[in-house]
Amino acid sequence: MCKSAFHSFLQELPKCEHHMHLEGSLSPEVLFTLAKRNNITLPQDDPAFQSAETLLARYDQFTSLDDFLHYYYIGMSVLISASDFEDLAMDYFRHAATDGISHAEVFFDPQAHIERGISYNTVLTGFSAARARAEKEFGITSELICCFLRHLPVPNCVSIFKDADVQASFKNGSVIAIGLDSSEKPFPPALFEEIYAGAKELGLRRTAHAGEEGPSTFISDALDILKVERIDHGIRLIEDEALLQKIAKDGTMLSVCPLSNVLLRCVKEVKEVPIRKFLDAGVKFSINSDDPAYFGGYLLDNYCAVHEAFNLSVAEWTSICRAGIEGSWCSQARKDEMLTRLDEVVRLWTPKLSV
Ligand code: ADE
Ligand code: ZN
Repeated sequence: MCKSAFHSFLQELPKCEHHMHLEGSLSPEVLFTLAKRNNITLPQDDPAFQSAETLLARYDQFTSLDDFLHYYYIGMSVLISASDFEDLAMDYFRHAATDGISHAEVFFDPQAHIERGISYNTVLTGFSAARARAEKEFGITSELICCFLRHLPVPNCVSIFKDADVQASFKNGSVIAIGLDSSEKPFPPALFEEIYAGAKELGLRRTAHAGEEGPSTFISDALDILKVERIDHGIRLIEDEALLQKIAKDGTMLSVCPLSNVLLRCVKEVKEVPIRKFLDAGVKFSINSDDPAYFGGYLLDNYCAVHEAFNLSVAEWTSICRAGIEGSWCSQARKDEMLTRLDEVVRLWTPKLSV
């Protein structure tokens, strides 16, 4: 826990998380438990897989996004049954409740499971059960975002998009949005134009990872070609001042992931994440944990790390929290509940934290 006087204030803020891969909340402990339960043999030739402790130590040494993704895809091989997916998501929602999250829009990677012979409906059944429990047990509302893996052949992505079970989940509202993730640099957004056009026609929400490791042109391409409504990461936006001004003017939200950026060597330290630049330019953003079990912290850890690096004021935190609520893909009634709670928390904490 951070020692800042702001810690309890940050915990109590009604936070929204918009960038969290459910498969990235698989802790080494759960990974080893599920490997045993499901008789999955983990790689014998990599000493990192000797124990949960050695694996966690390896997570401190990621050299790039691809180095992390290697472990991420091996990790998810232990997920087999709907109850494995439910347990995984419940582990995330318990952390979310402790951290004071009100609403979470979470990613999942169906192709990574379908490729291993696990059906889309098995994955969806488990995650949907966890979402219902999270709302009942913790009052956390959530939405699912179906991601396409950009390192896989485009025709494979298109056929998953068109799959009857996937289409049914879009039409019945159990999945409200699509995203684009995995290895970024060799796979420009334009490759996925057909899927995004189809999603727009269905009235789905649309986001894409862009400008994490890839260039700022991937951000403009995601906006112009894919017609996304949100950009995931987007930190390389600072390399294009005109684009930054446009994104500020249009009110397009970025889902920024500070600890992830450090762990994947996109920046050297949290101080280098362009939080100050975005605040000063009026760029809307939320703060997120990305793959919390791999990057050393859940959402509140990211808030605390940002506070330590930038020493933000109550007013600045309030505007970040408000942007997250207003930029969420939930009903206006739910937003109003969170905005009311935000006002209460700010009223309570302002006298204590203002010097
Ligand atoms: N999949 C899981 N985490 C990711 C990240 N940070 N970037 C791209 N793809 C991912
Ligand atoms: Zn991500």
